[in-house]
Amino acid sequence: MSSLEEIAKKEFLSNSAEIFPIEFENQRYWIKRARQTKANKIQKFFYRFFPLELLIPSLNKTALQALDYETSKLEKFRSLGINTPKVVYKCDDFFVLEDCGNSVNAYLRDKNITKEKFYDFVEKLLFELAKIHNQNEFHGGTQIRNFTYKNDNVYVIDLEESFSNSTDIETLKFRDFLLFILSFVKMKELSFEVDYFFIINRYKELTKSDDLTQKLRNFSKKISFFIWLSNVSFIKKRLGSDVKNFFKLFEILNSLEK
Ligand SMILES: Nc1ncnc2c1ncn2[C@@H]1O[C@H](COP(=O)(O)OP(=O)(O)O)[C@@H](O)[C@H]1O
Ligand SMILES: [Mg+2]
Repeated sequence: MSSLEEIAKKEFLSNSAEIFPIEFENQRYWIKRARQTKANKIQKFFYRFFPLELLIPSLNKTALQALDYETSKLEKFRSLGINTPKVVYKCDDFFVLEDCGNSVNAYLRDKNITKEKFYDFVEKLLFELAKIHNQNEFHGGTQIRNFTYKNDNVYVIDLEESFSNSTDIETLKFRDFLLFILSFVKMKELSFEVDYFFIINRYKELTKSDDLTQKLRNFSKKISFFIWLSNVSFIKKRLGSDVKNFFKLFEILNSLEK
């Protein structure tokens, strides 16, 4: 009988993908290859002129630093009671995670999903996100594709992003929330409109962030010139739908009651 370690090493050498599933004793695991993290250059450039939370550049890390950072954070989150996959093996080149089901993205973007089921997921996602934030931690990549679902539980994965020590935790939590809510903007398959106010209010309740509405309004004020620009018809025609939806969301947020 070969061990999980042996199987993983063999699969690692024969597969060039960065992340892929393997089977061991009828269980599924995921191999994630060590790889460097790099801040996006264009984003860094814009951040100098527009210091918006969404544009905060992440830190450059070597492959080994990124692997150490992500596996330690997964273990830390686990010890804090946050649902994360167990790290079952790690070496300098890759690590192996327990399977935590399918990406929540796949469930939410199913055109047949009912409103009830959808908000059931939203509740579970927010609950997990709030667990992180209430313990003064941040996720770093809160797009819903980085949440999985298994046995009625939502898990968080993909914790490799990190930021300069001088970035305060409240800013990173707010960035997490912006990324989270923006990842709903892309869902065009749904047969109903996403209720962003519900998501905002539920998050506020779970994290007791009374100042969230004000922060969101400040954010949309900061980008109001771009919102205005995006509505100029000849520019509008040239914008991609993601950008248009992004501005539409902040137009909605701008109308938030005090
Ligand atoms: N432990 C896991 N359980 C289930 N699926 C996983 C697991 N780890 C990764 N995946 C799948 O692989 C995808 C990519 O993994 P992720 O850690 O997010 O890497 P990346 O940094 O490339 O986004 C995820 O969106 C998910 O579908
Ligand atoms: Mg990911």
